[in-house]
Amino acid sequence: MTGNPTEGPSADELREMSTEDAMRAGAEADGVHIVSRRDRFPVRGTKAEKRAERGVAAMFTLSALAGVGFIVAFIALPYKWHLPGTPQNFRFYTPALGILIALMLFGMAFGLVLWAKWLMPEEEIIQDRHDEPSTEEDKLMTEATLARGLEDTGLPRRSMILKSLGLAGGALATVPLVALVGGMLKKPGDQLDHTLYRKDKKRFPESGGRVPLVYADWRRVGPNDLSPGGIATVFPGVREKIDGYDGVTSASSPTLLIRLRPGQTVKARKGQAGFGWPAHNPEYLAFSKICTHAGCPASLYEQQTTRLLCPCHQSQFEVLQDAKPVFGPATRSLPKLPLDVVVAEDGTQYFVAREDFNEPIGPGFWERS
Ligand code: FES
Repeated sequence: MTGNPTEGPSADELREMSTEDAMRAGAEADGVHIVSRRDRFPVRGTKAEKRAERGVAAMFTLSALAGVGFIVAFIALPYKWHLPGTPQNFRFYTPALGILIALMLFGMAFGLVLWAKWLMPEEEIIQDRHDEPSTEEDKLMTEATLARGLEDTGLPRRSMILKSLGLAGGALATVPLVALVGGMLKKPGDQLDHTLYRKDKKRFPESGGRVPLVYADWRRVGPNDLSPGGIATVFPGVREKIDGYDGVTSASSPTLLIRLRPGQTVKARKGQAGFGWPAHNPEYLAFSKICTHAGCPASLYEQQTTRLLCPCHQSQFEVLQDAKPVFGPATRSLPKLPLDVVVAEDGTQYFVAREDFNEPIGPGFWERS
């Protein structure tokens, strides 16, 4: 505002003016020169205006529907959901939520742009720069400008747009609430407490429910498979069938089976003394391969130093101390799997897990529990 009341009409004169004239006077006094101003629909209620209005409302309605879709999808779809006709491992739950949020924002943004482009007056203005404080007259003129601006939006008479915008805004505001409350309702239960090594008598009656250890190619692991100082990555022998794939999956609790060299003895952690095989003087040890720092696969075993190395942030675990962390950022030992050996009907021996891990594997859940 100019701050100089002599340049414009007085307060009394402004009160007498129409909002259009007061707005123009305000613009002039404020150094804003309206070069041209044209109402896009000078005749109210024409078909073209209705069409434009419906177009804008359609965008807001799309936004509102996407919002409702997000809420329904968030609550009703399982996280493993995939598009019908697509492979099962092509999980689409998170992308679906993302697409619905994108549609919601797109509908809202595009609706606002179309509203400005199609319905609000077309205007060309030039504005001077100024920095003095506002006078009473300036404030009145600003008031008129804002009132006129509200009128220009057509909000007071465009109930269709107003309702659809309200719906879209409501849906948009609900999204963070749904995500917040939904996250608290859907508790993971005890599924993070167990791995596929959990005993299963129906599936493995021949070993008393104890789960065999297998290689990725499905062969069972026996005590004669490793030479002294050797190491192998093994998995719980629970078969998973997904889209033609039949076997272990890479995420199925990968485990490091280590054969100690003669003369090496283990200083076991409390409560884990009998976890190796044979239990009284272990030659074989099995640890979770998932690093307790940030979940990388700890896979490099140095026979000479008896240390397991994690390549991500160089944590080192001392195998002869039950994989206790001795260097790097990891602070928790690798969980140890209680081992046993079963003799099959044909006389071959294979390793089984006597029980599941007795502590959670990996980093995150443990830190939070
Ligand atoms: S994930 Fe293993 S050291 Fe960081």
